[in-house]
Amino acid sequence: MHNRESLASWQQLVELAEQKKHQHMNELFAKDGDRFSKFSIQLPQILLDYSKNLIDDETLAALLRLVDEVNVSQWRDKMFAGEQINKTEQRAVLHTALRGSVTSDLQVDGENVRDSVNAQLAKIKTFSEKVRQGHWLGYSGKRITDIVNIGVGGSNLGPQMVTEALKHYSDNSVNVHYVSNVDGAQIVETLRPLDPQKVLFIVSSKTFTTTETMTNARTAMQWLTAASFDESAIAKHFVAVTSNKENAMSMGIEQENIFDMWDWVGGRFSLWSAIGLPIALDLGFEQFEALLAGAHEMDEHFMSAPFKENMPVILALLSLWNTTFLEAKSQAILPYDQTLHMLAAYLQQAEMESNGKSVSWDGEAIDYATVPSIWGELGINGQHAFYQYLHQSNNVVPADFIGSVESVTPVKGHHETLMANFFAQTQALMTGVDESQVRADLKAKGRTDSYIDMVAPHKVHQGNRPTNTLLLNRLDPRSLGGLIALYEHKIFVHGILLKICSFDQWGVELGKGLAAKIQTQLEDEELQQAHDCSTENLIRYYHQARAN
Ligand code: F6P
Repeated sequence: MHNRESLASWQQLVELAEQKKHQHMNELFAKDGDRFSKFSIQLPQILLDYSKNLIDDETLAALLRLVDEVNVSQWRDKMFAGEQINKTEQRAVLHTALRGSVTSDLQVDGENVRDSVNAQLAKIKTFSEKVRQGHWLGYSGKRITDIVNIGVGGSNLGPQMVTEALKHYSDNSVNVHYVSNVDGAQIVETLRPLDPQKVLFIVSSKTFTTTETMTNARTAMQWLTAASFDESAIAKHFVAVTSNKENAMSMGIEQENIFDMWDWVGGRFSLWSAIGLPIALDLGFEQFEALLAGAHEMDEHFMSAPFKENMPVILALLSLWNTTFLEAKSQAILPYDQTLHMLAAYLQQAEMESNGKSVSWDGEAIDYATVPSIWGELGINGQHAFYQYLHQSNNVVPADFIGSVESVTPVKGHHETLMANFFAQTQALMTGVDESQVRADLKAKGRTDSYIDMVAPHKVHQGNRPTNTLLLNRLDPRSLGGLIALYEHKIFVHGILLKICSFDQWGVELGKGLAAKIQTQLEDEELQQAHDCSTENLIRYYHQARAN
């Protein structure tokens, strides 16, 4: 069994990287005026321009050869067909089924996938309409005005990112809030202005064992019952989304108020399921369906487009090229759209929990760099904060710039300023400015030679920093669905290229286990457990400081 290094295309890519890493994109653009049309893909809802990467025809051909050598198409077919490609958890990977992208008779665990998905969709529709129309009443007969989603990771980031992104489409039938952190500050501040008679809690947890979520759910139940003086109020104010019905019911949540989750949907890919309930409640079921439809369109593109024109495949190849071959350590996500302010956090989980690994699916150690660390912020705010680093530090950070042609909240002059900055930044990151130009500009401004000598090196921008431009026509449920599905498939293809099992997350378990042990020790001073001397002394210090 070999990892990827033994493949002919991989070896060619190593050589190409060595040859080409000293090239400048300026030279590539000067040589080839056709780069934009060659290195861009246009779909009905979205344009990808990847010409501002250090690639050329030869590199792209080698990358596409790798796609063939590692059998991406076979893996893709296996995923859509419901095979157990999540090897270590022995599960199928079928979040695409949630948006209608599977064959009609697919059976998993003795259940027809489409039927069970449709049944849950119908339940989401009925429930969300009932709440939005004021027919779902709280313990004192009042309509629900506020929804509090309690969940963390995939049971929080997807719905929260989407409801923030699509704020404009909400008719404010209900207000949606999110509690993910076990720090009491979040739940206390969230509940403080709310009226218990009018709040509906969604406890979202695939496993229904996640400590943070269970702790917050219990606190919410106490808050409710303290106001209602009646435990039966829980039935009217709590619903759950989970694949562990028993645990949800044992907390007092009524069976009919439980929405199903399936083993074949990973947490970070779950916003298309009932985990997306806050989306349907906030925007209405039709908008939720439009989100699914946009994702379905991207599934179809991923399934059918030749790899050279296949957006998720190209994005995965660029990430691999920049990280594994050109040695970039991180990747920035830079939305030029205020409402996409949670996109970087969402993609951080999606990419890093999926491919942040160093063992191949055969269990062998991987020597090559895998997924870059993902970080980001709204582009405009970043310009006045960390873009200095992007332009002039020694670390090259490839970046995805994401924006829209049309604003959903047009205000005279604003969108043009926003997008002028977007285009200017990708241009500046690519072209840079060399010392002779810096000197000429300063001279033209009448600066003295001694000033020019002093300041010129500081004003040089090397440029040659790779960026992808993703331009939506307009941010709406459909295009957002497509954008999220684009990244999901990118992550999947990237995992195949790296030979990584993208759908497990064993790396989160060790810390969870230790936290559970330490918590008992924090609660009970007498309990002695062996720790390293740093952890031991920190726990002792914590106890002593609290005792004083
Ligand atoms: O700890 C990581 C994780 O398991 C994520 O993969 C998941 O999205 C999150 O926790 C929440 O899990 P659950 O939905 O089971 O509460």
